[in-house]
Amino acid sequence: MATEKSTELVFNPKLNLVTNIPDIQFEIQANVPYHFKFFNHNEDCESTLVQVLDRFLLHLDIIFLRDSLLAALRESITNAVKANSKRLYFKLANANINDESDYKEKMNSFKTDYLRNRTEFESKLEANGYQVVVSFIHGKDFLKIRVMNNTSIAKEEANRIKTRIEKSKLYNDLSEAFMDSADDTEGAGLGLIMTFLMLKNDGLGSNPFRFESAENKTMITFDIPLKVTQSNFQLQKADTILKEIDNLPTFPKAISDIQSAIDKPNSSIQDIAEMIKRDISLSANILRLSNSASFRRGNKVETLDRAIQMIGLKELQSILYSLGTKQILEDKFPSFQYIWDKSNESAFYAKLVGQKMNLSKETMNSLVSAALLHDIGEIILLSIEKDKMGNIQNYSNSKELSSALSMEESAFGITHTKLGSMVSEKWQFPDLFTKAMEYHHRPLLVEDTYKNIVFPIYLSDMMIRINLQESKASEIPIEVLKHCKIFSHSEFQSFRARSQELFSKD
Ligand SMILES: [Fe+2]
Ligand SMILES: [Fe+2]
Repeated sequence: MATEKSTELVFNPKLNLVTNIPDIQFEIQANVPYHFKFFNHNEDCESTLVQVLDRFLLHLDIIFLRDSLLAALRESITNAVKANSKRLYFKLANANINDESDYKEKMNSFKTDYLRNRTEFESKLEANGYQVVVSFIHGKDFLKIRVMNNTSIAKEEANRIKTRIEKSKLYNDLSEAFMDSADDTEGAGLGLIMTFLMLKNDGLGSNPFRFESAENKTMITFDIPLKVTQSNFQLQKADTILKEIDNLPTFPKAISDIQSAIDKPNSSIQDIAEMIKRDISLSANILRLSNSASFRRGNKVETLDRAIQMIGLKELQSILYSLGTKQILEDKFPSFQYIWDKSNESAFYAKLVGQKMNLSKETMNSLVSAALLHDIGEIILLSIEKDKMGNIQNYSNSKELSSALSMEESAFGITHTKLGSMVSEKWQFPDLFTKAMEYHHRPLLVEDTYKNIVFPIYLSDMMIRINLQESKASEIPIEVLKHCKIFSHSEFQSFRARSQELFSKD
């Protein structure tokens, strides 16, 4: 029967994995589990993991869990592969992992040997039959995701994991976990604790996963009720951060006056230039912008009139949102310049994506401005929570997590995306800016109307992260690529490389 067939695991050349998934666009059916099997955490396994997870979360309408679940699953897979490697290591060294003195002695050399020769080591897992199976199982009101490896765990390891999980329950937030792990010479277990806190914060309750071991298998299971809702209790913690937003001045009137002047049908470039000239720093910023990578065509622009001509009145109107923002945030927040530079690069890439999509001129105008503005929340968060943000970024970069949103949430009670959108609302920016700020790391959550803005910005951000080797292309949802007229991950990779070259030439 059909169900019997679907649980049979066979090699699928398209996924390059042993699985019962016939096609990655598989239809999701309740009570039909999906499994895939692999030996080390390679590109094929990663790309299948991301795509299967997206399929389920979208289908079940819980895509807001993507960030934390992806982090959790990667952590679990890494641990499972590592546990298998450890068995292999003991086997090759003819040592008994269940013998306490053998364990202590061999573990020291394992840590250095494994880190040093990880790839070589992991390539032997398959020949020795050490495997990992990931399963997605869903019923009427739950989704279960299980990561299982085929070795039993030593008593000492099991105890350590259980202690970590118990410890996680005591932390109120991520910063406590960071503080605690600072004294922990091995830095061990932080991943598991993070996972725990992120999932708990995303509404999965106080026991978001189960850890079990039995003869010849060890597994971690994530139990996700489908009625999960993101809890808001964290917001109280964000009080001091929210005060910063209250204390921000209103949007500069001089600038919104220029914006309304542009709206009048009979206003000319000269009229507008006159208004702008009254503000020296604004004039300088417009001139600088017209010479930046996103606008520059040909020779250096020297006069304001020419700069406005180059940018165009309509586009200038939308650019003025970011220039007004610059005026307010530049001196107040030390992280301004760093994010501003990054956002300029993002605007450049977003424009290239927009061109590929054949967006209308009007949408392109909004896209560039939205890209310049999308991380203003990060300017604020990075400036007032420098140390904690540093910890989060280091951690998420080392794990190649595309976004540290769940971690921000568990550390501060608020994310830079939410903060940004609050500022945008305070200054009465157009909705599409607000949406770009809120959804640029969680593009699958945005309403259809805003996809043309949010998707290119998300991709531009990913391009920057991949250039810095902080993320992998495989985690980009294929839906997003397709919407942007990019039809595969490899096409995206060559597009990214070309764009990077163009940017560095500029
Ligand atoms: Fe961001
Ligand atoms: Fe960004």
